Amino acid sequence: MKGLILAGGSGRRLRPLTHTSAKQLVPIANKPILHYVIEDLVSVGITELGIVVGDTGDEVRASVSDGSRWGAEVTYLEQEAPLGLAHAVLVARLFLGDDPFAMYLGDNMFEDSLDEVVAGFEASGDAARLLLARVDDPTAFGVADLGADGRIIGLVEKPAEPSSDLALVGVYLFDARIHAAVDAISLSERGELEITDAIQWLVDNGMSVDHRVLDGWWIDTGKKDPLLECNRLVLDGLAGDGVMVDDQATVVDATLVGPVVVAAGAQIIDATVGPSVAVGAGCRIESSTVDHSVLMEGSSIVGHHRVTGSVLGREAAIFGGGDSGGPGSELSVLLGDHSVVDVHVPVVEPWVDDCLAGEGSGG
Ligand code: G1P
Repeated sequence: MKGLILAGGSGRRLRPLTHTSAKQLVPIANKPILHYVIEDLVSVGITELGIVVGDTGDEVRASVSDGSRWGAEVTYLEQEAPLGLAHAVLVARLFLGDDPFAMYLGDNMFEDSLDEVVAGFEASGDAARLLLARVDDPTAFGVADLGADGRIIGLVEKPAEPSSDLALVGVYLFDARIHAAVDAISLSERGELEITDAIQWLVDNGMSVDHRVLDGWWIDTGKKDPLLECNRLVLDGLAGDGVMVDDQATVVDATLVGPVVVAAGAQIIDATVGPSVAVGAGCRIESSTVDHSVLMEGSSIVGHHRVTGSVLGREAAIFGGGDSGGPGSELSVLLGDHSVVDVHVPVVEPWVDDCLAGEGSGG
């Protein structure tokens, strides 16, 4: 079985980060999401990997190289425009040949073992096996409709009125029959070749499409809050409530509340960091409190800030904040690479506080 990893797309929902970087390379617990995907595939013996890349192809190549570090052999496949998941299969036609393959979206992570997902597929005679997960808002995903016998009878991409809460997870197993399906479909209303339409074609043409419903968590990391949630879950799994600090990091007069990971060259001084924070290489946190956040390489938070639920791009900086000794500003931000935020905290005279307190109790 081959692996097809999708690492193109525009990353619209993670702008401005994705103006300068691929969404699949955003770090979760200090490791790019794409690397987890590769590890997952290699762990079940899928080492022949095709990676579909778009505008950010150079960056993806620089990060993954030939894959030999994982014992994989990577072929890069250029997708000239993000024209949909089924289009990516079309682009990969030569690489895939007639082999069965696992298609894995490079920004998806899930807890269940891929081993159980892949087991028995090749011998099953099924044309496809899908992964489904129950979600609160199915309108954001492809949604599956199950028949009375529990088999998939329909799939709709981002329906306004979903018929179930079963979303399509971004991991699919196919055999060669998917190519006929991809050839048969046409562009959707949003101008893409949808994999959901191709799978629907398989169902409509009497081919068997199997599915599994996930037990554990699944996250499409394409937006800030799911990304932070994914960071939290992976940190929980890695560190428990522990603290992992690289030998080459400096921690002085600081409180680290696990789970926290701190990469090489980071400096944490007079600060409280955690829980659920990944501090990238060369970051600096000083005189601040940071929780539930991802700090990418070289970013910094200096001053009297409380930063929560934030993602800081590479070399992004938050400073200012005064030296009041008080809690200072509370920030929740998504900053692109090299962004700069200079925070000014208004000085509140003690008599104003007294006055407000008086008003409150009198009101
Ligand atoms: C894509 C698929 C959708 C699936 C989702 C999973 O959506 O089109 O069916 O549920 O991935 O992450 P996209 O992320 O391209 O909007």
